[in-house]
Amino acid sequence: MTDPVLSSMPHHVAIVMDGNGRWAGKRFLPRIAGHKQGVTALRRCVKACVARGIGVLTVFAFSSENWNRPTEEVSGLMDLLARAVTSEVAELKQNGVRLHFVGDRQRLSPTMQAAFVSAEASTALNTGMVLNVCFNYGGRWDIVQAAQKVADSGQPITELALDRALSLAHVPDPDLFIRTGGELRISNFLLWQAAYAELYFTDKLWPEFDDAALDEAIAVFRARERRFGQTSAQLASLPAAHSPAATGQPMKVV
Ligand code: IPE
Ligand code: IPE
Ligand code: MG
Repeated sequence: MTDPVLSSMPHHVAIVMDGNGRWAGKRFLPRIAGHKQGVTALRRCVKACVARGIGVLTVFAFSSENWNRPTEEVSGLMDLLARAVTSEVAELKQNGVRLHFVGDRQRLSPTMQAAFVSAEASTALNTGMVLNVCFNYGGRWDIVQAAQKVADSGQPITELALDRALSLAHVPDPDLFIRTGGELRISNFLLWQAAYAELYFTDKLWPEFDDAALDEAIAVFRARERRFGQTSAQLASLPAAHSPAATGQPMKVV
């Protein structure tokens, strides 16, 4: 038997890092201990993605809806982020990672906003993987702010115009969308950009998501056939380099 033809590696991986609270609960620890472990898991995941040649990693760290959590948890998450933004930059630089914060910054403290600007500036010249940390992000917020920008500019509302006004305009759409923690939902992440992402759900809680778990997700992705609306027969007749799976993008309808 011949091996199935594998798709290429995902260029852009997006992750809903869910399950920190349950990880802590199982160990009779406060939820914030789970979030701390979540930062460790993210550090490990960034390194693993760099080592595997992933071009873009986009992670969901705090949603527009997470403000509805108990005040103590929200402030714990803010403190954790404030510390991570400064402490992680040196290692990101070493790994050649370009950091971007994605989301509505207006509700964040001026100190946090300044820390974002400074961390982004100090990794801006890196040429390796792009790391997008989505914080106070929601897919609906993103579509609304993009639509507002396009409307303000007086341009007609087209897919391309919206695409360019969205907060992830600096990267191509995600190829692989991973959610840890066992829930089978999107929870307002990348509503527009995930239109053709391959979805992968795992019961593993985010602090447990290790290199082997990432490799498993990538292997499942590579075994999928990405058709982007076409038929399998059409894909088979395309030269490999031009197939949607190889380019990672839907063929534009003209
Ligand atoms: C994800 O883990 C992290 C954030 C939403 C900030 P959770 O805190 O949602 O963990 P669970 O889902 O309660 O286990
Ligand atoms: C999604 O997880 C947001 C992040 C991982 C940052 P949630 O735990 O907030 O999602 P729901 O509430 O279970 O849908
Ligand atoms: Mg959760």
